[in-house]
Amino acid sequence: MDTRVKPAYDAGKLSLAINTMWRATILTLFPGMFPGPLGASLAGRALATGLWEMEVRDIRDSATDKHRSVDDTPAGGGPGMVLRADVLAAAIDNAAIAPERPRLVMSPRGRPLTQSRVAEFAAGLGPLIVCGRFEGIDQRVINARGLEEVSIGDYVLSGGEIAAMVLLDACVRLLPGVMGKLESGSDESFSAGLLEYPQYTRPQSFEGHPIPDILLSGDHAKVAAWRRAEAENLTRNRRPDLWAAHGGQLGNQKGPKSTTDG
Ligand code: ADE
Repeated sequence: MDTRVKPAYDAGKLSLAINTMWRATILTLFPGMFPGPLGASLAGRALATGLWEMEVRDIRDSATDKHRSVDDTPAGGGPGMVLRADVLAAAIDNAAIAPERPRLVMSPRGRPLTQSRVAEFAAGLGPLIVCGRFEGIDQRVINARGLEEVSIGDYVLSGGEIAAMVLLDACVRLLPGVMGKLESGSDESFSAGLLEYPQYTRPQSFEGHPIPDILLSGDHAKVAAWRRAEAENLTRNRRPDLWAAHGGQLGNQKGPKSTTDG
């Protein structure tokens, strides 16, 4: 008989669990901005229940001079201040993240964030995200640390923190266990390359506008065809770029007239 005392846990499994927890490492000059909205609602509940973790690091802690300075005037002149390469490189190195984790920097000149890139980030171990401030970041640290520049849209925010929260919110809702069946994202905008069809609920009549009859018909095939046609019409009218990428083909040419655009 084997008389050895077995540990109450399997060390292999435990270390796997520790190493595979999805983690966001955020480098910022404003650590007080986090978790911000990520501490509430779906992402906040998931954070509190340990479905993901957030590590917030103050870039200023990696400054070395007595004034703890992190920025300086741009070489070549011009307005504003630039985040120093040496300070930010030290902040990234001090974070000591696993090499396979993506290293991102939020920037309006980055590649626009897409749902498919979000899904890739969600499927990995979680990113390190540098939140830029000032006029920019010394290009040498972007190159030397292989930072991927990511934009959340063609407008300029005062810093990368809110952009990082947008990216994280989009990722976290896709993590296993975060969305319940009811919140499931399989039908939503972008997952099939189309914008989402319009939704209705009670009351049956709102300010004289009834719910479209077809949705109350109980005919699932007809409901699905109507939703498809609505999604296609919306996408074609609002987002010609997505519509072209989708192939620009109406699946349901004879679909009922749209209740939204077009
Ligand atoms: N920082 C400032 N503006 C931004 C944007 N549009 N996307 C990502 N980061 C930013």
